[in-house]
Amino acid sequence: MHLRVAVFDLDGVIVSTDTFHFEAWKRLFAKRWGIVHTPAAEELTKGVARFECMKLLARYYGIRADEEELHRAAEEKNRIYQQLLQEQLSPANILPGIPQTLVLLKERGVRTALASSSRNAPFIINRLGLTFDYCVDPAAIPHGKPAPDIYLAAMDHFGVSAQECVGVEDAVSGVASILAAGMPAIGIGPAVIAARADVVLETTAQLPQTFEELLDGPRQLDWAGGFCAALAAPARLRAPTEQRRLSQLTGYFEDRRAAENILASGSDPLVYEYHQLNAPRDPGDVAFGVTTLYPGVVGSEFYMTKGHFHGVLETGEVYYALQGSGLLLTEDRHRHTRWLPLAPGRAAYAAKGFAHRMVNTGDEPLVCFFAYRADAGHDYKTIEQSGFRKLVLRTEGGGVSIQDNPKKKQEEEV
Ligand code: F6R
Ligand code: MN
Repeated sequence: MHLRVAVFDLDGVIVSTDTFHFEAWKRLFAKRWGIVHTPAAEELTKGVARFECMKLLARYYGIRADEEELHRAAEEKNRIYQQLLQEQLSPANILPGIPQTLVLLKERGVRTALASSSRNAPFIINRLGLTFDYCVDPAAIPHGKPAPDIYLAAMDHFGVSAQECVGVEDAVSGVASILAAGMPAIGIGPAVIAARADVVLETTAQLPQTFEELLDGPRQLDWAGGFCAALAAPARLRAPTEQRRLSQLTGYFEDRRAAENILASGSDPLVYEYHQLNAPRDPGDVAFGVTTLYPGVVGSEFYMTKGHFHGVLETGEVYYALQGSGLLLTEDRHRHTRWLPLAPGRAAYAAKGFAHRMVNTGDEPLVCFFAYRADAGHDYKTIEQSGFRKLVLRTEGGGVSIQDNPKKKQEEEV
């Protein structure tokens, strides 16, 4: 990706204002209703707009007040909050890694924007001594997060495409807003684990390294200490991808002429792609990644991967289907052939000693996670020369038929 603009949420990403919000609610409840506001109640307010918080807390503490009074109370809370910011906000409240991230982005020519729904944002940024190339004015945004509007406004300001941006958020609705704008998303903290961000970090302290990787490519992963990497398909942010186009696979399909005709018509379709992380070649490590095999046929043969034996023959491999449908065709060097169905939620095990190949018999991409012993290595030659014993073909009625490979039969009869 060519990164040109980084767009940040404010609260929980750039700065932590949690203590100020807590203190403001505490003072409000003590003064108005003689209630001691607790951290447990404060938890309920995370990521919730001000007036909604007010209603929620009133219900929580059993306060009886009409809408108008609650509005006045919410405004008072905001005044207390602003006053606390005035008195106490300092650069010490900037979250770890943020100053380094902003310096790095400036050095590397990446523009920065702030996409906060808070009207207090300009004051906060000023007070912290931070500068962004652009701050979206939330008052001019018709629909708040999770709608994409605020991120689209940042993008439009710089005249760049969504793929040239990345958004950073710590709340589920914020990540949803970034993704709805079509941008890759970096999520911070456990709250966003379920939000489908492209990358999830434990803390903002990991942001400088994450941006360095986005700009320069992935660093060595921590195979000795453990790591978490994005394998989303398509991987928009990290793992390098190997692609296999039809022109690299013509010899693998039974109907070679059909393959050549497709190529002669001027197209060279992408048949499959996979990315795996560079595991150290050590028997104790596990290599893993994701393969996406696209739907299609060459003649009547379904799209498939090349297939291979492992170099260390006696090593198995597990495939776990995430999307689509098809099968894992396997065979050993004797007479055993099996095909194992692949569909979301199913794991297929290619036993040690068995060559294996994915075949997509459906009409959407077949996406599988795979894992195997990291030092297994690959023997592609055997399959390249004589194929598998079985061919997986589409019937005229659109069904699936598994037939003997005539080429292989002849060979085994000799
Ligand atoms: C690794 C493995 C898979 C495949 C991938 C592409 O041992 O089985 O990662 O490498 O699905 O298929 P091939 O390697 O057959 O082109
Ligand atoms: Mn394999």
